[in-house]
Amino acid sequence: MSTVTSKLRLAERMSRLGTESAFEVLVRARELEARGKEIIHLEIGEPDFPTAPHIVEAAARALRDGWTHYGPPAGLPQLRQAIAEDAGARRGIHIDPAEIVVTPGGKPIMFFTILALVDRGDEVLYPNPGFPIYESMIRFVNGRPVPYALPEERDFDVNVDELLGKLTDRTRLIILNSPQNPTGGVMSREQIAALARGLADREVFVLSDEIYNRLIFEGEHTSITQFAGMKERTIILDGFSKTFAMTGWRLGYGIMRPDLARQVALLMTNSNSCTASFAQIAAVEALHGDQSGVDCMREEFRRRRGVIVEGLNKIPGFRCHTPHGAFYVFPNITGTGKSSKALADGLLNEAGVACLSGTAFGDWGEGYLRFSYANSVENIQKALERIGAWVRKNS
Ligand SMILES: Cc1ncc(COP(=O)(O)O)c(C=O)c1O
Repeated sequence: MSTVTSKLRLAERMSRLGTESAFEVLVRARELEARGKEIIHLEIGEPDFPTAPHIVEAAARALRDGWTHYGPPAGLPQLRQAIAEDAGARRGIHIDPAEIVVTPGGKPIMFFTILALVDRGDEVLYPNPGFPIYESMIRFVNGRPVPYALPEERDFDVNVDELLGKLTDRTRLIILNSPQNPTGGVMSREQIAALARGLADREVFVLSDEIYNRLIFEGEHTSITQFAGMKERTIILDGFSKTFAMTGWRLGYGIMRPDLARQVALLMTNSNSCTASFAQIAAVEALHGDQSGVDCMREEFRRRRGVIVEGLNKIPGFRCHTPHGAFYVFPNITGTGKSSKALADGLLNEAGVACLSGTAFGDWGEGYLRFSYANSVENIQKALERIGAWVRKNS
């Protein structure tokens, strides 16, 4: 092991960078496993299914065919074309390939959009509880994070009147995420329409994180880009991680006006150069090939949702809404009398169930836990028994 003797002096901006504690909980869970404890993983947000064989085969073929070199920073033309067609058809809007930037995962689109649009002191509205990287990136660029709530009593849908009331002359960007992580909430078409109306004469951009758009259990996905005047002020974040169980491939994209796309491509040139070429060839196959795997996965998630919601509602002090999308549940645990963090720690260390404290998604997540149900029904049932037993013993 190397030893360092001098003090590490970091750039000031590093002190403003947050993290995603799902990865930290995973590390702690792995340490417990290394010491012989059996852990059921309900913390990490990735489908537990393998990537479909026809996509894997397309990547292997692409490697053999020599797709092993750099490509254009904004993505291979054939993939940008395929994304434009697929994403446009799914939302009923026209999308041009010049509006697409392919990135290693969907996450860089958050980073790049915020870097490209938010100046010091600019206000950014973001969901709280919400994906922790939003707030981290806003702070990193010296923007001002302005949280908006996702009330449980509204099934975690946004209260658009309240959101609009937070707009000021300094508001630069609004971040939407539907279906939502961590609550599984889905914004209703009415609320999105009301938001589009409210933004009609405002010079505000929207970052619409639609990474879970094909994991909806009731109704259809609505994108704010479907409403008059909104497409040119919206950056859609989407990708292959969740829809096609391809988290480790690192494949995502942004859809935005072409002049902004050129700037985001410049950020790609300055950071990653390009997304892996062979993976992009496989991504074309993911979009053009057999889609039955996506539907099967959604139906399996629906089955598990039923099991986990019913089970959690039987645990004393827990109250769990049925989420309408993604693969997370966000039960209210205030009835246990414990803080979210204390409960999550107790469940991991003593009951062997890894989950996340609601506060991993912002201060307003206090009183909740997040469980990912990307695990087998058998393991979910076992976890429910352990949680129930632990809560009964410790209350
Ligand atoms: C809301 C949300 N947006 C974006 C991402 C990032 O996805 P990717 O793995 O494609 O970078 C995640 C991943 O957990 C997410 O939950």
